[in-house]
Amino acid sequence: MKNKVFSSNLGVRLNHILQLIAQKKYQYIWDVGTDHGLIPLTLAQDKNIKHIWASDTSFQAIKLLKTKTIQLKQISCLIANGLQAIKTPVNVVIIAGLGTKTILEILEKDNPYIENYIIQTNINPENIRKWIHKWNFALETESILHTKTYYYHTLLINKKKGKKIQTAKEILFGPLLLAKKDAIFRQFWQDNIKKEIFLKEKINHITRHAEKLKKIETIEKMLKTNNEN
Ligand SMILES: C[S@@+](CC[C@H](N)C(=O)[O-])C[C@H]1O[C@@H](n2cnc3c(N)ncnc32)[C@H](O)[C@@H]1O
Repeated sequence: MKNKVFSSNLGVRLNHILQLIAQKKYQYIWDVGTDHGLIPLTLAQDKNIKHIWASDTSFQAIKLLKTKTIQLKQISCLIANGLQAIKTPVNVVIIAGLGTKTILEILEKDNPYIENYIIQTNINPENIRKWIHKWNFALETESILHTKTYYYHTLLINKKKGKKIQTAKEILFGPLLLAKKDAIFRQFWQDNIKKEIFLKEKINHITRHAEKLKKIETIEKMLKTNNEN
């Protein structure tokens, strides 16, 4: 791993975020829902990063993090709900380790100081893509990670440049992932079909049953071709 801020304490999920930050050379970074502050504490080792804000709704989490960052002038720790405290320009806001519903509630308060987002979720990434589409923002990168228990989607959202999300199919599968259809993407959707079949068997409601069937057919059809280009 070439990334100089890679940390063996963080695990593959959070290291993936660090890699993205290093690649993009972001200098002003905000970590929403920081909890133990693993990302800010690791980023503080990178001298190219000018400032990191670590925020959380948890008083206890911020109190503890403050004790760990007394010597680190480049980290500010604050108690804040979502994006409410962001009042100066930041290159990127990280939102990881929260459910998509909470992430979307946080994103409702998007503001012009924020240039990009790194969102990491293990549930319903299509709802994040719907939000990107609604605001005509763009996807710069998207990838899937498989840990022991979950598949994580990590989306780098750029408000100005990148791939726009235009169709229902792109909302469901992700335009960048669709263009590649790599092994992990295929594995994710093959597992998803199994889940959908299992759920379909349990549904008696005729309309919802038909919806599930349609979704399974859409996934199967998509998996039959190599890529969408
Ligand atoms: C599971 S931890 C995730 C920690 C870290 N971001 C990660 O990915 O490992 C979720 C944290 O988000 C915080 N949180 C939940 N809702 C929040 C909100 N609306 N604004 C800020 N923080 C929030 C919780 O207090 C908790 O510390």
